[in-house]
Amino acid sequence: MSEKSRLPSKFLFYLITVSVFLLILSSVFLLQFSKTSFTPSSVFKLILVNGTSVYFEPLVKSRQKQLPFLSSEVSRVDAIRSSKTSELACPVSNSSKKLGSLRKMKTMACDSTQALLRVFMYELPPEFHFGLLGWKGKENQTWPNVSIPSRIPPYPGGLNLQHSIEYWLTLDLLASNIPTVVRPCTVVRVHNSSKADVIFVPFFASLSYNRHSKLHGKEKVSVNKMLQNKLVQFLKGRDEWKRKGGKDHLIVAHHPNSMLDARRKLGSAMFVLADFGRYPAEIANLEKDVIAPYRHVVMTVDSSKSASFEERPILLYFRGAIYRKDGGVIRQELYYILKDEKDVHFTFGSVQGNGINKASQGMASSKFCLNIAGDTPSSNRLFDAIASHCVPVIISDEIELPFEEVLDYSEFCIFVHASDAVKKGYLLNLLQGIKQDKWIKMWERLKEIVHQFEYQYPSQPGDAVDMIWQAVSHKISSIQLKFHRKKRYDRSTSGIITK
Ligand SMILES: *[C@@H]1O[C@H](CO)[C@@H](O)[C@H](O)[C@H]1NC(C)=O
Ligand SMILES: *[C@@H]1O[C@H](CO)[C@@H](O)[C@H](O)[C@H]1NC(C)=O
Ligand SMILES: *[C@@H]1O[C@H](CO)[C@@H](O)[C@H](O)[C@H]1NC(C)=O
Ligand SMILES: *[C@@H]1O[C@H](CO)[C@@H](O)[C@H](O)[C@H]1NC(C)=O
Ligand SMILES: *[C@@H]1O[C@H](CO)[C@@H](O)[C@H](O)[C@H]1NC(C)=O
Repeated sequence: MSEKSRLPSKFLFYLITVSVFLLILSSVFLLQFSKTSFTPSSVFKLILVNGTSVYFEPLVKSRQKQLPFLSSEVSRVDAIRSSKTSELACPVSNSSKKLGSLRKMKTMACDSTQALLRVFMYELPPEFHFGLLGWKGKENQTWPNVSIPSRIPPYPGGLNLQHSIEYWLTLDLLASNIPTVVRPCTVVRVHNSSKADVIFVPFFASLSYNRHSKLHGKEKVSVNKMLQNKLVQFLKGRDEWKRKGGKDHLIVAHHPNSMLDARRKLGSAMFVLADFGRYPAEIANLEKDVIAPYRHVVMTVDSSKSASFEERPILLYFRGAIYRKDGGVIRQELYYILKDEKDVHFTFGSVQGNGINKASQGMASSKFCLNIAGDTPSSNRLFDAIASHCVPVIISDEIELPFEEVLDYSEFCIFVHASDAVKKGYLLNLLQGIKQDKWIKMWERLKEIVHQFEYQYPSQPGDAVDMIWQAVSHKISSIQLKFHRKKRYDRSTSGIITK
């Protein structure tokens, strides 16, 4: 860093010239590859980040340590540069506007008549959302200013990040009213709830569970419980809730233990969840709720650098806790079956700290990655495997998968019933029988769909945030249909049309 401060202005000039040259070069690439935009867009972002690290120099220095999580794609850039400079996400700047126009996206604020979904967001006080991140606004300020990505309060890292979905969705709604943020106009925040299709509840429930479940000092109830109780009271008192009994409300509760106290009372709402493992069917089900991917913790492998069939020496990879309660017994059984097999990597180990690096390397050099039911049917290992272009082998009979209404997982995953997987020799026979050309097909498909599992700010067409809103829109249509049917002979509400 000290080098930077000594840079003569001549060097800066040279740097900018080089960046501009690369920018032009990359737009040529972009045009050439408009269909398979993975390679060029990563090249483009590389330069973007470099370019803006100049624009936002002072911020970069002060924020450097806290900002590694704004975009999962940034880690890719980092790996390439192998330097410690800016860890900014795709920023909003002159150059990103160029990127926008190249992709034919609008730089105007999203128009509510064009958006797929109009969302009203409650003005809950910051203690329910960004306050949990340590953010303090000015007096009466409810939301941080999201115009400049580098100034957005970062979400804590490590395993917290897996469940950060609440954060990305809230940011996207805030951004939808800012003309300079380039993002898809799938969803727009409206300020009149009677004009909304969905009412969004901006409570960071997973973070509240992860960070505030314990009692401190003289507290009788934890902050997590207190916030949930307040939330229930608030919602039950709102006209918006009473209108449809909460059915058009969207609550993000991605951590399986989040909203533990309130989920029953708010069970009529739509939830965004990781799976249904800890929910009774009447409270959470596919009919009304949306399954969202975990935010993966390993780096996304650059599609152009993804190891091929021959370059992946390990046939089957698993790293994680072997002994789990509840549904996790199968991990143990598989461990004893597989531990001495050649080409199989099956080890204990947490995916924290250095474990993340080990897992990144391991998955990126394996042909198949095991995803076994843990103490819940889902785990972020599946999404780590996808980010590593390692074909997932799913042994979890109760698993629910994100975006399955538009994604055919059999094109890039192998599903094995738990009862088959524990038969001696079954799994290895199956995987060894998968020929190279079949594996390559799945690997190619993985590289196509990996984008749908990326959380980032600003959101991009077809990324995880965009896909979740589309899934919500599907659910809303069917909820709307039922609501209207029920009203056919209901004279008490005649004339009140709800959009
Ligand atoms: C990024 O900037 C550094 C100087 O800060 C320069 O050495 C490097 O070549 C640049 N990388 C790209 C890809 O533009
Ligand atoms: C955008 O470009 C204009 C001139 O083209 C320049 O004055 C301005 O500082 C740039 N803005 C940013 C954020 O770099
Ligand atoms: C904040 O809100 C309160 C109550 O509405 C009001 O009295 C006060 O003037 C506001 N403060 C500022 C700085 O706007
Ligand atoms: C947010 O920040 C931008 C850039 O600093 C500024 O132009 C804008 O006025 C701010 N918005 C609000 C509501 O403070
Ligand atoms: C919200 O929209 C409804 C229906 O269009 C309208 O009657 C109402 O006046 C609006 N409320 C506000 C505060 O603008």
